[in-house]
Amino acid sequence: MTVTTHAALSVGTAEVAAAAETIGPYIRRTPLLDAEIDGRRLLLKLEHLQRSGSFKLRGALNAMLTGPRAEHVVTASGGNHGLGVGTAAALLGLPATVFVPTTAPAGKVRRIEATGVRLVRHGATYAEAAAAAAELAHRPGHRYLPAFDDPAVIAGQGTVAAEIIAEAPDVDAVAVAVGGGGLAAGTTLAIGPRTTVAVEPYDCQCLANALAAGRPVDGPVDSVAASALGASRIGELPFAILRRSPVQSVLVSDAELLAACDLLWEQFRIAAEPAAAVPFAAWLAGRVPGQLPCVVICGANTDWSPDRA
Ligand SMILES: Cc1ncc(COP(=O)(O)O)c(C=O)c1O
Repeated sequence: MTVTTHAALSVGTAEVAAAAETIGPYIRRTPLLDAEIDGRRLLLKLEHLQRSGSFKLRGALNAMLTGPRAEHVVTASGGNHGLGVGTAAALLGLPATVFVPTTAPAGKVRRIEATGVRLVRHGATYAEAAAAAAELAHRPGHRYLPAFDDPAVIAGQGTVAAEIIAEAPDVDAVAVAVGGGGLAAGTTLAIGPRTTVAVEPYDCQCLANALAAGRPVDGPVDSVAASALGASRIGELPFAILRRSPVQSVLVSDAELLAACDLLWEQFRIAAEPAAAVPFAAWLAGRVPGQLPCVVICGANTDWSPDRA
C-alpha cells in the first residue's frame, strides 16, 4: 500500500463533518439559490460570497486548526489559496508568508497583501515561487500549507458540499471546478453516492488527463481560468480519492465559461471570476446529469471596474 493510499484512507466523510465543526465559527455559511433557467431547475451554491472571496478559506482554516501547530505559516499561491491562507492567518492571529510568482494577477496579489501577510514576489512560474516557499518552510516553527494535496485541506473544502446536502438532501449531482482537485475530492467525501461532476477547461484538464492515464501526469495549462485552475498536475491525494468515487469528468471551452460568467451576471447579478463559472458552463451545455443538480460558484476574485454612467 502506498503512502498516498494511507493518506486517502485517513480522510473521509467523518473528517468533513469534523472540519465543519472546526471552521464553523470563522466562516460564512453561504446561501443556496434555487433558480430556474429555460424551465430547468438548478441550485447555485453562492460560495463566492465566502470571506476572502472563495472556498479556499475553508481548507486553509481546517489545516491551520487541526495540523501541527506552527508559529509561522508559509505557502505559495498568486490566487485564491494565497487569499484563503492570508485571511485564515489573520483570523487566527498567526504570522504568514505567501510567495507569489511575478505573473500572478494584480488584483489577487493586492488582496493577498491586504490580508496582512508578508508577500514575497518570486520567480516567473508557480513552481519557482513554490520552491522558494518550501525552502522557507524548513525553518523551525514554520509550516508549509499545501493548496490541495493535504487531507485537512480536502476535508475543509468538502464542507461546501456538506452544507449543500444538509440544506437540499434531494440534490443528486454537485458540479465543481477542478484545479489541483482538493474541492472535487472533498465534495465526493461529503456527498456519498451522489455524482460529483468535476469540470475543467479543455486547456487545463489535469484530472481528465490523470483519469485517462490512470495516474497524475503533467499537462499543458492555457485557459482564461488558469490563475485559479492552472495546476499542471492533479494532486496525488485528491486523485486517489477521486478515482474510487462516483465522479463524472466534464470539459468546457474558454468561450463557454466566459459566456457562462456573463450569464451569471445578466440573470442573477452574480459577479463570478471565470473559474467559478466553469461548473455553470457545463450545466448550460447539458453536460451535468441529475434531476436536481447544484453548481458551486466558487470564487469572486476578479477585478471589478463598473461603468457608473
Ligand atoms: C475559484 C476557484 N475554483 C476552483 C479552484 C480549484 O480548486 P482545487 O485546486 O481544490 O481543485 C480554485 C483553485 O484555486 C479556485 O480558485
